[in-house]
Amino acid sequence: MIARVVSTAVLLVVVCLAAPAGVGADAANGAVIYRQRCAFCHGADGEGRYASGTYYRPALWGPRSFDAHAGMARPATFAAFVHANMPLGSGGALTEQEAWDLAGFVDGQCRPKKPGC
Ligand code: HEC
Repeated sequence: MIARVVSTAVLLVVVCLAAPAGVGADAANGAVIYRQRCAFCHGADGEGRYASGTYYRPALWGPRSFDAHAGMARPATFAAFVHANMPLGSGGALTEQEAWDLAGFVDGQCRPKKPGC
């Protein structure tokens, strides 16, 4: 139920972030932010947490993750979603650059249907 409500809210607030002019995603910085702000819920290796049976923290990479064709695998979509909604309950806490850096790090990881993985 909580996940359903959150999903609905999430869909309503996803907006497109323009790439900061002249600045690319810094995946190395994204890895640092991931460990500090995201790994608690999504796992140190992006594997997610499924133990409770009712409140899942979805995998962000690896075999249980969204696949390489999902919208979330596109950095612009990922950055906009994360900036608006993550960490869960603290949407807007990250800067746009931090959201892009996270996109560079997470979308670079192996996931289903990604060539070479
Ligand atoms: C307090 C736990 C928590 C933290 C911390 C957290 N998340 Fe999440 N995240 C969730 C939950 C729960 C969902 C699923 C929401 C839903 O389905 O409604 C989610 C969903 C996501 C999704 C969508 C995944 C998919 O398959 O569609 C992405 C991407 C994501 N989080 C990225 C991040 C990033 C990046 C961070 C760090 C900045 C972060 N999250 C921090 C709990 C968390």
